[in-house]
Amino acid sequence: MKTLSVMFVILCLMVMGVSARDVQDQQLRRNLLANGLGKTPPMGWNSWNHFSCNINEKMIRETADALVSTGLSKLGYTYVNIDDCWAEIHRDAKGNLIPKKSTFPSGIKALADYVHSKGLKLGIYSDAGYFTCSKTMPGSLGHEEQDAKTFASWGIDYLKYDNCNNDGSKPTVRYPVMTRALMKAGRPIFFSLCEWGDLHPALWGAKLGNSWRTTNDISDNWDSMLSRADMNEIYAEFARPGGWNDPDMLEVGNGGMTKNEYIVHFSLWAISKAPLLLGCDVRNVTKDTMEIITNKEVIAVNQDSLGVQAKKVRMEGDLEIWAGRLSGYRVAVVLLNRGPWRNSITAEWDDIGIPPKSLVEARDVWEHKTLKTKFVGNLTATVDQHSCKMYVLKPVS
Ligand SMILES: *[C@@H]1O[C@H](CO)[C@@H](O)[C@H](O)[C@H]1NC(C)=O
Ligand SMILES: *[C@@H]1O[C@H](CO)[C@@H](O)[C@H](O)[C@H]1NC(C)=O
Repeated sequence: MKTLSVMFVILCLMVMGVSARDVQDQQLRRNLLANGLGKTPPMGWNSWNHFSCNINEKMIRETADALVSTGLSKLGYTYVNIDDCWAEIHRDAKGNLIPKKSTFPSGIKALADYVHSKGLKLGIYSDAGYFTCSKTMPGSLGHEEQDAKTFASWGIDYLKYDNCNNDGSKPTVRYPVMTRALMKAGRPIFFSLCEWGDLHPALWGAKLGNSWRTTNDISDNWDSMLSRADMNEIYAEFARPGGWNDPDMLEVGNGGMTKNEYIVHFSLWAISKAPLLLGCDVRNVTKDTMEIITNKEVIAVNQDSLGVQAKKVRMEGDLEIWAGRLSGYRVAVVLLNRGPWRNSITAEWDDIGIPPKSLVEARDVWEHKTLKTKFVGNLTATVDQHSCKMYVLKPVS
């Protein structure tokens, strides 16, 4: 007995020594879940934007295959997330969710096994109401513990939790119930709160989950995309490793915007430390789309270890400068032209947080070029209409 307890103490000390930094991280995050997930914004794919309810296990498998064969998974796109419409409208006699027999005949566990065998992760969807938004399947309200256990037993890695058809109580009442259920479920599951920004989830989301939607759903057009980016920007101070603002999933590749507009979309999501969840059909991607979503330098800005979300630091009409710190005393900058004409935009060191006389090297992360000129005090670029330039700036001596 005595020997056992001594061994136990030694074991505890070893564990504490090894994980001191993790403990500190968790204290900083004060996240009830403390699941260690989302140290950088999540990356992957979700079925909704392209397929809405037209989903089945075959296309989810093919999507997993495509993420690997295209090389996207190697770049970090590892979550394969099933959205609404995956379950039968009725629970079984014991109250369990049942995968829809006509579209997911092999069940979700088999799908998770397949996705895991590819080195990927499987995400699923439920709702803090009686039914999901499609009304074709139940929500988890009143069944939180049971559903969290079911998800864990299937090997689910990510839960998007929507807000439709609820009982009228506040999200701050309903969402913590699922947080606690996930804590008890015995498997770390990334928890994505999707209450559409209704009750300013940036103020309370970090205690409950790993990301929180700050906006209503995105549509595949320029105005919708920009307005999501704008609404999400307001909450920049609240993003940090473990908990991220979420302006909704990507529309890149779905056809509603020009190539330059999609470059703006991807740049703003990256610099805003937004989840990079692809919303196109990754089994059938054009060269242009591929060029955008595989840009390693832009992805690196999103995945930077500092986890600082960029802010709009200057606006002059349709011209904007977005900037955010990166690790290594670097700064990421987007020069955005929202207007209908080409224009010149100047970023001043004062505005973007670089000491006034610093000599700065600029890397154009879309041209993949380090500019020959070094800059002092400001950087000016000509930016086409509905386009942006994106740089990583680094003071040099
Ligand atoms: C592939 O994408 C192109 C357009 O990008 C579309 O015309 C075609 O129908 C798609 N093919 C399939 C099988 O979805
Ligand atoms: C940019 O910096 C240069 C060199 O320091 C200076 O001459 C110029 O006036 C600045 N331009 C703007 C628009 O601030």
